[in-house]
Amino acid sequence: MGERILVVGSGGREHALVWGLLRSTRVDQVIAAPGNPGMAGEPGCLCASDTSASDIDGVVALAEREQVSLVVVGPEDPLVAGLVDRLREAGFAAFGPSAAAARLEGSKSHCKEFLLAHDIPTGAAVSFTDAEQALAYLDSLDHVPVVKADGLAAGKGVIVAETRTEAAEAIRGILIDGRFGRAGREVLLEERLTGTEVSVLAFCDGTDYAVMPAAQDHKRLLVGDLGPNTGGMGAFHPSPIADAALLETVAHRVIEPTLAGLAAQGRPYTGVLYAGLMLTDAGPKVIEFNCRFGDPETQVVIPLLETDLYDVFMACVEGRLGSLDVEWADQAAVTVVSASGGYPTSSSPPAPISGLEDVPDECIVFHAGTELRDGAIHASGGRVLAVTAMKPTLAEAAEAAHAGIAVIEFEGMQHRSDIARETAQVRT
Ligand code: AMP
Ligand code: GLY
Repeated sequence: MGERILVVGSGGREHALVWGLLRSTRVDQVIAAPGNPGMAGEPGCLCASDTSASDIDGVVALAEREQVSLVVVGPEDPLVAGLVDRLREAGFAAFGPSAAAARLEGSKSHCKEFLLAHDIPTGAAVSFTDAEQALAYLDSLDHVPVVKADGLAAGKGVIVAETRTEAAEAIRGILIDGRFGRAGREVLLEERLTGTEVSVLAFCDGTDYAVMPAAQDHKRLLVGDLGPNTGGMGAFHPSPIADAALLETVAHRVIEPTLAGLAAQGRPYTGVLYAGLMLTDAGPKVIEFNCRFGDPETQVVIPLLETDLYDVFMACVEGRLGSLDVEWADQAAVTVVSASGGYPTSSSPPAPISGLEDVPDECIVFHAGTELRDGAIHASGGRVLAVTAMKPTLAEAAEAAHAGIAVIEFEGMQHRSDIARETAQVRT
C-alpha cells in the first residue's frame, strides 16, 4: 500500500502539487480539500469539496478520517491561522510553516522588523496605527512612499502611489475607512524601490534549504505588461534575470539569515519560503516574504522537478533536506493563465469551457476557477486555468503553451499572448 496525502487548497498551484504527488511511486491517493474539477479528473485524486481550506477543524477532521500520512497546505490564510500547528498537535506530518514562522507573511511590519534586525537587505519603512501621525510623516518625506496594509489582504493591500495625494488617500482608506478590516489596523510607509522584480523560492526544512529554479512572473493583466496588477497571468523558466549567480546571492544574503534567525527565535521554518525581491542598483532587496508556493510559478516549476515530490516534502518535514539531492530537468517551461472576463476587478457569471479535450498531450492543463455544472466544466471566475508546456528551449515551450491555450474558449476569456515570448526571442 502506498501513501495517502491530503492537499489543502483549490487553485492552479494546488492542482500542480496534486499532479506532482500523483507522479510519485510512493503515493497511491491524493485527497484535495476542497480541490477543483481538474484535480477530480486526475486518476488517483479525490476531492473533499465540502471542506474549505480555511476550515481548520474541518481539515484536521478530514486528515483523521482519511488517515493520511502527510498534509500539504497551499494557501497562506490557513498557514497564518495555524493549520500546520493544529495538524502537528494531532500527530500529522504537515508541510508548511507554523503560524509563528508564517507571521513573516501575515504581518508586514513584523516582517520588516525581522529583516532589519537580521541585516537582510530591504527598503526603509515606518509603521503607524494612527492616521494623523502617518499623514504627518508622509508630509515630512521628500519622496512618495509605498503604502501597505499590515495584514493579509488577498494581494490587494499594497498601494504603489504615484503622488502624495494618492498616498494620503491610501492611508485614510486603510486607517480611517477600514478598507481592509483587521488587516489594515496598521500601515507601513515604505521607501519605493526601483529595479526589476524577481522571486526566489526555496524548500526549507528548518535548517537546510533547496532553492527552486527561478520562474519569472507576468503580473500585469494585459499584453506588454500593461493594465492592472493580478496574481499572475503567466510565468516561465529559465529567466535571464534570475541566473545562478543571483540565486546564490539571494541564498546567502536572504534565505540563510532568515532560516538562521527564525531557528534562533525558536520558530524554525518548514515549507516553502518565497522571497519577493527588487533588483536595485545596490543589489537585491526584499519586498516581501510569502510563506507558500507562488501561483502560477508552481505550475512552471513542479513539472521540472525530477526528484520525487513526496520525498522532497517528507525530507522537509523530517529535517533531512540536507541529505537529499533535489534535481531539476534541464528544460524550459512556460505557463499561460486564462482568466474570466471580470478579472481582477469583478466576478463573472459561470461560462461553459470548450476545447479542453483538444489541448495537445504535450501540454498540462491546471484548473483553478472552474466548476462542474450539469456535468460540464464551467469557468467560475478569477483565474480559471493554466496551460504549461516543457521543452528544451524557451521559444519551443512558449509556442507549445500558447498553442495549448489557443484551443480553449469560454465567454469573456482573457489571456496574454506574449507570455515568455519577448524573452524567448532575445535568447534564440
Ligand atoms: P506585495 O503584495 O507585497 O507583493 O506587493 C505588490 C507589488 O507592489 C509588488 O509586486 C511590487 O510590484 C510592488 N511593491 C511592493 N513594495 C514595493 C516597494 N518598496 N517599492 C516598489 N514597489 C513595491
Ligand atoms: N504569483 C505571485 C504569488 O503567488 O504571490
